[in-house]
Amino acid sequence: MKRGSAFLLGLIIGILILPVIGYIYFRFGYAPIATAAPPMPFEKKMARMALRARIAAEAPKNSPMQADPANLTAGAKIYVANCAFCHGLPGQKDIPAAGKGMFPVPPQLFNPDEMVTDDPVGQTYWKVTNGIRMTGMPSFNKSLSPDQMWEVSLLLANADKLPDNVKAQLQPGAKTTIPPTSTK
Ligand code: HEC
Repeated sequence: MKRGSAFLLGLIIGILILPVIGYIYFRFGYAPIATAAPPMPFEKKMARMALRARIAAEAPKNSPMQADPANLTAGAKIYVANCAFCHGLPGQKDIPAAGKGMFPVPPQLFNPDEMVTDDPVGQTYWKVTNGIRMTGMPSFNKSLSPDQMWEVSLLLANADKLPDNVKAQLQPGAKTTIPPTSTK
């Protein structure tokens, strides 16, 4: 073989080999699909990287609403109806039934170790609005209004310093007569 064509052949094999390995990985069931399966190589790192880049570009810098008692109370009601099912309530020891079997397991947002109180509120708002693909974190853009998404985001940003009357809304038995979640 001439040097030129050997080089060309090598180049073509080089270009094809990765997609072929990738195809085999998925086609023959090597990729993890069960929630209990170990993560794919680099899965967590790549997903985090992509999420961070998107949020940096798109998350609003400031909240248009204040963390006043009325908004926090509204946020608490929205949380109990839409989020506690996965993310738990203050003082709840066990991860809720659905959350336990998920991959990744949803962070318990009122557990002091997992709170998002250090995240800028716009970052949380972005996650609530857009969801996080392939994690089970839903997007609420189609079911909550922007005001409602800000209210629940403000609640989580202040989860470590909520007034007592707001905390009272976050009990398992709390009345969750919610204003209709859809305002669109
Ligand atoms: C069906 C389960 C489910 C529901 C319901 C749900 N989430 Fe999530 N949420 C998740 C999962 C799983 C993650 C973890 C995603 C990840 O690891 O990237 C998550 C992540 C988050 C995060 C990011 C936490 C962090 O540490 O960065 C926030 C904030 C959040 N959810 C807020 C909410 C709010 C607010 C609601 C309700 C309006 C809600 N979620 C409803 C499953 C859920």
